[in-house]
Amino acid sequence: MRDLSEERLADAVIERMAGIEDDRARRVLSALVRHLHAFAREVELTEDEWKLGIQFLTKTGQISDGTRQEFILLSDVLGLSALVDAMNHRVPEGATLSTVLGPFFVEGAPELANGADLTVGVDTSMAPGEPTWVNGHVLTLDGRPIEGAIVDVWQTRPDALYDVQDDDDAMQMRARFRTDAEGRFYFRTFKPVSYPVPKDGPVGGLLSLIGGHGMRPAHIHAIATAEGYRQVVTHIFPAGDEYLDSDTVFAVKDSLVVDFLPVTSPEIAERLGMPSPFLQVDFDFRLVRNA
Ligand SMILES: [Fe+2]
Repeated sequence: MRDLSEERLADAVIERMAGIEDDRARRVLSALVRHLHAFAREVELTEDEWKLGIQFLTKTGQISDGTRQEFILLSDVLGLSALVDAMNHRVPEGATLSTVLGPFFVEGAPELANGADLTVGVDTSMAPGEPTWVNGHVLTLDGRPIEGAIVDVWQTRPDALYDVQDDDDAMQMRARFRTDAEGRFYFRTFKPVSYPVPKDGPVGGLLSLIGGHGMRPAHIHAIATAEGYRQVVTHIFPAGDEYLDSDTVFAVKDSLVVDFLPVTSPEIAERLGMPSPFLQVDFDFRLVRNA
């Protein structure tokens, strides 16, 4: 194996991988090498460009830690997250569609009682936030309630930041709720706001190069989990957001866009313990049974 031509190099690497015992690992790694070499040949990659790529990936790793995930952000802005999600979550008509997880999920959000208030302790001095009542169900595909399902939610504060973007470890605006016998969950929050993805890292540099706005349309992240059903990782997008058609991470699906409607009745506000007026959003998850 000497004097390998530019075209033969990829084959030589792939042949060396023939000894990988796991079929899937061998297939994935071989395809990765084939496409990586094809990419380099297609653009006639220069040494400076190769070094730039290495530096970019190095910085992406160095800025990532337990709560900041620059590689997920990179995958998101390249559309890879949306592609992997789409391929892995093909569901029948009527089921709630999934979308990207995003870089701000944190394991272990507190489980709160239905009706809890996620706005408690949130600093609203920079932006007041719009009080919002979220009311939803977790249902089977044919509309029957699923009791005991867990709905894990997380979202931006009115200042357009997630709690994990602060310097401390305090959790805000994230919780888990358990559905009741009617499959229902409900809580008080602020209407989520559109926000820029973090731009102080290497992915921010990439976004500057691309020249896009780097914004995400407002959304509440949600993961619905129920025993015997396929978990769905998704977003709830308020209708009318100006970035719905130009999401930086390509994650918007029409069926996930819903109205946050004003409720002006002081009686309803009082019954729910909400200020008047407030916004209400109704969103039902429809889950597919495990095969
Ligand atoms: Fe988000």
